[in-house]
Amino acid sequence: MFKIVNKQKLNSTVTMMDIHAPLVAKKAEAGQFIILRVDADGERIPLTVAGFDRNAGTVKIIFQIVGATTMRLNEKHEGEFIEDFVGPLGCATHTEGIKKVCIVGGGVGCAIALPVAQKFHSIGCEVHSIIGFRNKELVILKDEFSACSDKLTVMTDDGSYGAKGLVTEPLKEALDAGENYDEVIAIGPLVMMKFVVATAKPFDVPTTVSMNPIMIDGTGMCGGCRLTVGGKTKFACVDGPDFNGFEVDFDEAAARANAYADFERREREECCNLFKKELK
Ligand SMILES: Cc1cc2nc3c(=O)[nH]c(=O)nc-3n(C[C@H](O)[C@H](O)[C@H](O)COP(=O)(O)OP(=O)(O)OC[C@H]3O[C@@H](n4cnc5c(N)ncnc54)[C@H](O)[C@@H]3O)c2cc1C
Ligand code: FES
Repeated sequence: MFKIVNKQKLNSTVTMMDIHAPLVAKKAEAGQFIILRVDADGERIPLTVAGFDRNAGTVKIIFQIVGATTMRLNEKHEGEFIEDFVGPLGCATHTEGIKKVCIVGGGVGCAIALPVAQKFHSIGCEVHSIIGFRNKELVILKDEFSACSDKLTVMTDDGSYGAKGLVTEPLKEALDAGENYDEVIAIGPLVMMKFVVATAKPFDVPTTVSMNPIMIDGTGMCGGCRLTVGGKTKFACVDGPDFNGFEVDFDEAAARANAYADFERREREECCNLFKKELK
C-alpha cells in the first residue's frame, strides 16, 4: 500500500498528489511513468512521474479526471493509501548533446512536460517553453515552468490568459525568426503533437513526441500500447514513451486510442452513478 502524503487541486479537473514510494523515487527520471491501481479490484492506469523527492521518498503524479479510475483516485484523501504503484517504467527522456530545446505542452500534457523542462534546465540547457490550455481556468504549472524556462509563452484558445491561439503559432514564429533549437519536444493531445511535428518538419528540427496509448502491463508483454514508428511496430511502454515525431503514424494511434471509447463511457457513467448513490 502506498500513502498519499499530499493532495492538491490544480484546477477543476486536474489533481496533484505526492505518493510515498521510496523505491520508485530512488530510480525515477524525467520522461518515465508509473502504473497504479487505486484499490484491489481496480484497473491499472499509467501516469507520468511529474516529479520526485529522493530524500523524502515521494513521487509526484498529476492527473486529469477523465474517467472511472481517475475519478476513484481523486476520491482518495491525503493520508489514505492506494493499492499499487509500480515503476519507474519506460525510457527516460534523452538529453545528450542538446543545448537549446523548445518544450511544447498542451493541457494536462504540461504535467508530463514539466519534469522534462526541469531536467534540461538542471543540466544547463537553454529552455524555451510554450504551454497551451483551452482557457484561463485550466492553466496549470505556470510558475513551475517559469522557474525552469529561459523563455515562457502561455497560450489559451480563447485568449482569456496569455496570448490567444494554438501552441503551434509561437513555435512557428520562433522557427521563422531563426531560433536554432537542437530539439522540439511536444507533449499533449495526439492532434496537438501531430501539428507540432508538421510545424517543425519544414525547418528540419528533430521533434520528439511523448505517446500515451492504452497500456495494460507496461512491460512489453501485452502489446496493448503498440504503435507504428518508422514503419516498424514499437511498444510505447518499453521503447518509449518518447519517439521521433517525424516517424510516428499519428492516424493509426488516434484510431487505436478510440477503440475502447464505448466501454470507457459505460464505466464512467457507472462510476458517476455509484458516487451519486454514495453521496445520498
Ligand atoms: C505513459 C502514459 C503516461 C500518462 N501520463 C498521464 C499523466 O501524467 N496525467 C494524466 O492525466 N494522464 C496521463 N496518462 C493518461 C491516463 O493514463 C488516462 O487518462 C487514464 O488511464 C484514464 O483512465 P480512466 O479510467 O480515468 O478513464 P477512461 O474513461 O477509462 O479513459 C479515458 C481516456 O484515457 C485513456 N486511457 C484509459 N485507460 C488507459 C490505460 N490503461 N492506459 C493508457 N491510457 C488509458 C484513453 O485515451 C481513454 O480514452 C498517461 C498515459 C500513458 C500511456
Ligand atoms: S502496455 Fe503491454 S506491451 Fe506495452
